[in-house]
Amino acid sequence: MIPQPRSSMLELPEYVPGESNLKGIVDPIKLSSNESALGPSPQALKAYADASTKLNRYPDPDQNELRDALSSFHNLEVTQLFCGNGSAELIQMLIHAYVGSGDEVLLSEYGFPLYKIFALSQGATVVTAPEDDCLTNVEELLNRVTPKTKLVALANPNNPTGTYLSGSEVRRLCENLPKKVLLLLDEAYAEYVTAEDFESGLTWAVETENVVVTRTFSKLFGLASLRIGWMLAPRKVFEILQRIRITFNANGPAMATAVAALHDFEYTQHVQQHNHVWREKMSIELKSYGLKVFPSMANFLLIQFPDDSEANSEAAAIALMQNGIIPRPFSVGSPSNCLRITLGKSHENKGVLYTLNKLMQGA
Ligand SMILES: Cc1ncc(COP(=O)(O)O)c(C=O)c1O
Repeated sequence: MIPQPRSSMLELPEYVPGESNLKGIVDPIKLSSNESALGPSPQALKAYADASTKLNRYPDPDQNELRDALSSFHNLEVTQLFCGNGSAELIQMLIHAYVGSGDEVLLSEYGFPLYKIFALSQGATVVTAPEDDCLTNVEELLNRVTPKTKLVALANPNNPTGTYLSGSEVRRLCENLPKKVLLLLDEAYAEYVTAEDFESGLTWAVETENVVVTRTFSKLFGLASLRIGWMLAPRKVFEILQRIRITFNANGPAMATAVAALHDFEYTQHVQQHNHVWREKMSIELKSYGLKVFPSMANFLLIQFPDDSEANSEAAAIALMQNGIIPRPFSVGSPSNCLRITLGKSHENKGVLYTLNKLMQGA
């Protein structure tokens, strides 16, 4: 006899993060976790060093400095904002607080896999709506809403596909959901979007009682290791989550560093520009090799390899790894025969292009 977890824990799929190591290679090029190619801003690094002198102190439980900074930066009500140990923690808290056994959680076919794991762990049923060539279909989502639907979760732009939904489509989803259904808009990659018809939920979610938006410092701001994300929540949701939030869930150095990163506009623009240039360049090049590249508004590309060729995603992953580059393979949760590759530094991106070009020429 050994202690038994709740039955919903027994069959949970495992979340497999991007690989970090390559056997025999000391410093591989890691393009497997959508981290920032260029790292944090120099001002953020200075703030981190300064914060290291206060490690004996607990952080501010009210997270005032970062919440105030976010409030003025995004013009949001500070009483609706709070921070967490990465946005993943906040998403987990939301699902933990609102979703239970017998509820349905509605996801898009190739949505971010963490939502499914959190929902199943609560004993909920996961319902998925088919996509149109890796693009979330609002109609299909709405068709699957039932009296049991508790939460709809959508990453915009989405990971692993990189595709996005326009502001009007997200609003249409929101307007047609019953008001008792929570809509989680996960905007981990929103700062990379250049499409003019994209609209962040931050600009209108404040008017609703059921829309929650999450953001992160792990991607554009290059602070993945510090684990710092934030959430905009309707007041009632905020009050509930405050009750279950661990008092010091966001750590002091992470919050201080995030404030400095937020204020370094020039560096942020430089990182965005690097991403935009390489996203465009890589997409065009890779397509010219005969590969399918899903249109991305994020800091990564989902690449589909031809089915009728030896140059499939497995062969591509092997070729990249032989050149010291770690991609992100997908067996489930994405269309077949795909690799996801994070946009890296210029020479890293050139390494990807060189390898895949050679592979496709040999095919
Ligand atoms: C869509 C999406 N949401 C949330 C997260 C979690 O990010 P964080 O580092 O803020 O926990 C990720 C991380 O890859 C992501 O891709």
